[in-house]
Amino acid sequence: MADINLTGITKKFGDYRALDDVSLTIGNGEFVALLGPSGCGKTTLLRLLAGFETPDSGAIMLDGHAVADPARGIMIAPEDRNLGIVFQSYALWPHMSVARNVGYPLEVRRLPRAERDRRIREALSIVSLEAYADRSPAELSGGQRQRVALARCLVMEPRAVLLDEPLANLDVHLRETMQQAFLEFHRRTGATMIYVTHDQSEAMAMADRIAVMDKGRIRQMASPETLYREPVDHMVAGFVGAGAVLPVAGVAPGDGGRCLVRIGDDDTGVQARICARTLSRATANLNHPDERIGDLGLCLRPEDVRVDDGGSLAGVVDDCVYLGGRFRLLVRIGVDHIIPVYAGQRARIGEALRLAVSDGWVFERTEAA
Ligand SMILES: Nc1ncnc2c1ncn2[C@@H]1O[C@H](COP(=O)(O)OP(=O)(O)OP(=O)(O)O)[C@@H](O)[C@H]1O
Ligand SMILES: [Mg+2]
Repeated sequence: MADINLTGITKKFGDYRALDDVSLTIGNGEFVALLGPSGCGKTTLLRLLAGFETPDSGAIMLDGHAVADPARGIMIAPEDRNLGIVFQSYALWPHMSVARNVGYPLEVRRLPRAERDRRIREALSIVSLEAYADRSPAELSGGQRQRVALARCLVMEPRAVLLDEPLANLDVHLRETMQQAFLEFHRRTGATMIYVTHDQSEAMAMADRIAVMDKGRIRQMASPETLYREPVDHMVAGFVGAGAVLPVAGVAPGDGGRCLVRIGDDDTGVQARICARTLSRATANLNHPDERIGDLGLCLRPEDVRVDDGGSLAGVVDDCVYLGGRFRLLVRIGVDHIIPVYAGQRARIGEALRLAVSDGWVFERTEAA
């Protein structure tokens, strides 16, 4: 299994930078998700890794060996990188049995029959399809077909598995089952996995680390918990997890490394976490207004906010939806800020109430966000 290293990768289509100076390190056996909106460059990154595209600049290393490095004239062909690839469309051969589909890459490489059969059995067992070896793809469900596609990539014993939205064609229930199947596969094999998705809950449920991409760049790469609790900017805060991102009117040092954040002019402020560097820059800025600091943003997650008559924020109910067991309120603060809140009771639209905030995260808004 492989560790993967990208340094300063840029890929242009005409004048358009599909990837812009992307650097990324993935450890041996790690499960990494590439997450981002449509068109942000996820598939392009995967195709570069696989060797279907050549970078304009930068270098890609697999296990310490360069496989793409235009400055040194290095470009290793896809078939010599030994990476397994699973796409959204399963691309199975309809006239071949499941076993033959899985073993086809080995046939092409002219492996002896016995060796082929052994590897096919092993791959089918990893995806729990031993009993389906003789069926044709037409006799399988969507999830089973996707498992055949996964088995076909495993027979090659790849050093890493690249998956491009492999569950996008499946219904919600099947997706959850397949997420479990992929996780199970990862545990059993310890394979390095790179999993492309634009579904943040899928990325959160599966990955050790998530790289959040936007406009050809990686905005943040971290564990799901860190992305959720401490997003670096507005884009990440908004894309990962539900919640609200509010502009900050002022910030003052608080207890235990936290800070007191003012959102509007009339509220008493909320306690939030902030990184020490941002806090010192923000408070220095009060004394030295010339020093440049970006605007601050406050990220609030629904579980940190509750309806409370003694709360510091005044708001008006904009919407109320029953989720089964609880309600989700959208509460308007000031003119145009909406905060999602879970509540045990239904609220009337237009009702005035107060919100107490137990936690939040302050980040510095960056230019591109
Ligand atoms: N062969 C190509 N020629 C020209 N432009 C391309 C080509 N491939 C990709 N692009 C452009 O590069 C950008 C990134 O595309 P990419 O397929 O990597 O996005 P993505 O993040 O995978 O999106 P999605 O979630 O929709 O699959 C897009 O704007 C796309 O139009
Ligand atoms: Mg794509």
